[in-house]
Amino acid sequence: MPDSTPPPDVPSAPRSALKPTSHFNNWISAIGAVLTAGALFSFAFLVWMDFSQGEKNPYLGILTYLVAPAFLITGITLVLFGAWAQRRWAIKHTAHPDRWQLDFGNPRQRRMIIGFGTGGVMFLVLSAFGSYQTYHYSESNQFCGEVCHSAMAPEYVTYKRGSHARVDCVECHIGSGAEWFVKAKINGVHQLVSYTFDNYNRPIETPLTNLRPAPEICEQCHWPEKFHGNVEINFDHFLSDKENTPYTARMLMHVNKSALGSPLGGIHWHVSDTERVEYYATDAKRQEIPWMRVRNLKDGTTRVFRTEDFTGEPPEDQIRVMDCMDCHNRPAHVFPPANDMVEKAMMQGTLSTKLPNIKRVAVQAMTETEITTTAEAPQKIADFMRSKYNDRAYAVELPGAIATVQELFSLSVFPERKADWRVYPNNIGHKDWPGCFRCHDDQHKTAQGQLVKSSDCNSCHTILAQGKGEELELLSAKGLDFVHPGGELDPDLTCADCHNGGIQ
Ligand code: HEC
Ligand code: HEC
Ligand code: HEC
Ligand code: HEC
Ligand code: HEC
Ligand code: HEC
Repeated sequence: MPDSTPPPDVPSAPRSALKPTSHFNNWISAIGAVLTAGALFSFAFLVWMDFSQGEKNPYLGILTYLVAPAFLITGITLVLFGAWAQRRWAIKHTAHPDRWQLDFGNPRQRRMIIGFGTGGVMFLVLSAFGSYQTYHYSESNQFCGEVCHSAMAPEYVTYKRGSHARVDCVECHIGSGAEWFVKAKINGVHQLVSYTFDNYNRPIETPLTNLRPAPEICEQCHWPEKFHGNVEINFDHFLSDKENTPYTARMLMHVNKSALGSPLGGIHWHVSDTERVEYYATDAKRQEIPWMRVRNLKDGTTRVFRTEDFTGEPPEDQIRVMDCMDCHNRPAHVFPPANDMVEKAMMQGTLSTKLPNIKRVAVQAMTETEITTTAEAPQKIADFMRSKYNDRAYAVELPGAIATVQELFSLSVFPERKADWRVYPNNIGHKDWPGCFRCHDDQHKTAQGQLVKSSDCNSCHTILAQGKGEELELLSAKGLDFVHPGGELDPDLTCADCHNGGIQ
């Protein structure tokens, strides 16, 4: 049959009358159009949400500025591709050029169009609803702490047992205001990408530099006018002797002693509005501080203190103004030393004090490198403890003690993230880390030879009582001299030289 003969299904006259139809009139473009409309609708909805209520959520940014546009581009591409494919088909097959064309006159196609239209509308509604739900979900602590599980597990565990366990991650980590808004958006996307490709630092490096200034975060809930007086803290311990002798120091912390001329004396003087402390640290963790300057904000005078070895001037851009975070650097994520974990379990009775020397053995099990640096740490902890208590007399207490120490280990040492107290110093005190003694160490002097005031044992706190049992009821308002349970103190050693997480 010659080629020129029209095929039997040549379009009927009324159909041809509709011509020429647009190349955009085809199924592929129609699907693209629904997708585009859905994406546009979601995008508008997300942007509205982002500006009206979601200012603090970076993951909303991922949806708004990455996912929605991706759908938008896919939709537009489909629309164009449909038209292009239709046109190519039309050129090649001039005889019946309407391969994917929508035909409202065809009942089968009409049913499909109705079905497709309904589906499209549902898609629109669902995508809006879905983004709204995703938005709420991504703001939740569960998302921050559990979805990014291996990355965030240590922070989530430490957060849940802290005083801020009811404060949302976003309250501290992500702020409002245009600048932090944009930073958080970029950061959130960056974090998700790093997490997805398993490309983040272990341990996550601190101090974090992308947090808002501390006063902006903390003073939402704690503000200087609200600080009051002295605070009593009991530091409960057990000694590493056979009897596991309890030892407690009842201390009065001079958080806000009123001082002459300053509304904020005492420990919180550092954040008063009359004077400002600036310092320079030579290491990234801010543990070595050879230079500091006190600036009187009323008359502008300054006093510079420096250690003997540090003779130069610090680079101007690396001088930091002291704020809440220089002392409270672990408000939500304290990585407690093995020593504290063990003592707390003994206090609570989950670790039996009937086992002689359990304090020492448990701390050893949690800190000895041969035990803790292998993947079989839990097994090794068990073996080690069994070897220490291989007498039948301990058979009742031992299994529980082993399980407890294994649990304490899993809650405070995170080998996968290389995170524990050794990596994340807590600057609040001076026993296990240098903390206050970074500056209050009698090594920093002014050019005139003045030392930093308040470096004797009674200036930051007084010891109300110390010891055990009845000794703790004999309070001294004036303050007692510290009787060190580990024997006479060597003035050349700092507490952290010996007590860096546990004395074995
Ligand atoms: C009370 C405020 C606060 C809350 C609530 C909070 N954080 Fe933090 N977080 C901080 C501060 C402050 C740092 C920075 C510590 C530093 O720079 O040394 C930090 C540090 C971190 C780090 C870096 C690693 C580390 O341990 O320092 C991660 C990860 C983290 N937080 C995750 C979370 C997650 C997840 C939540 C919620 C489950 C949360 N944070 C809740 C204040 C908070
Ligand atoms: C959204 C409110 C909120 C924010 C933001 C917040 N806190 Fe708190 N903070 C609390 C609450 C609630 C408590 C618990 C009070 C209690 O237990 O009596 C608390 C307790 C504390 C305590 C005493 C208990 C302890 O752990 O020693 C300190 C210190 C503290 N916060 C410091 C900070 C610092 C530093 C920041 C800034 C990084 C901060 N907080 C941010 C609400 C907040
Ligand atoms: C020089 C170090 C230092 C600085 C700076 C500092 N604090 Fe404190 N703060 C302490 C110490 C020490 C305590 C006593 C509690 C303790 O030892 O754990 C304390 C106690 C607190 C408490 C608990 C008080 C109570 O009644 O239980 C809060 C809340 C607090 N600080 C918030 C802040 C905030 C907010 C800032 C910043 C504006 C700040 N601190 C700056 C060292 C500091
Ligand atoms: C970055 C250095 C630095 C750190 C860290 C530091 N301080 Fe200070 N502190 C100073 C300086 C400087 C002064 C003023 C000394 C002077 O005037 O001679 C001061 C003064 C004080 C005062 C006397 C305030 C008054 O009423 O005049 C107290 C109390 C105090 N610090 C407690 C602490 C405690 C507690 C910590 C740890 C949680 C701490 N400091 C950490 C630098 C520091
Ligand atoms: C610059 C302020 C400052 C000076 C000086 C200071 N301390 Fe402290 N000390 C603190 C703070 C702050 C804490 C509370 C830490 C915390 O909240 O975990 C503390 C805690 C303690 C504790 C309890 C620790 C524990 O975990 O059981 C003892 C004991 C102690 N100090 C003894 C001393 C002795 C002894 C001296 C003198 C050599 C001294 N302090 C000098 C600020 C100071
Ligand atoms: C030469 C090393 C050394 C120095 C320096 C040192 N300690 Fe100790 N400390 C010990 C030993 C050893 C023990 C007894 C260990 C035990 O029984 O658990 C001990 C026990 C303690 C205990 C009770 C048990 C415990 O593990 O918490 C406290 C509290 C304590 N020291 C606080 C301090 C403070 C505060 C300083 C600094 C002012 C300090 N120590 C300096 C070695 C030292």
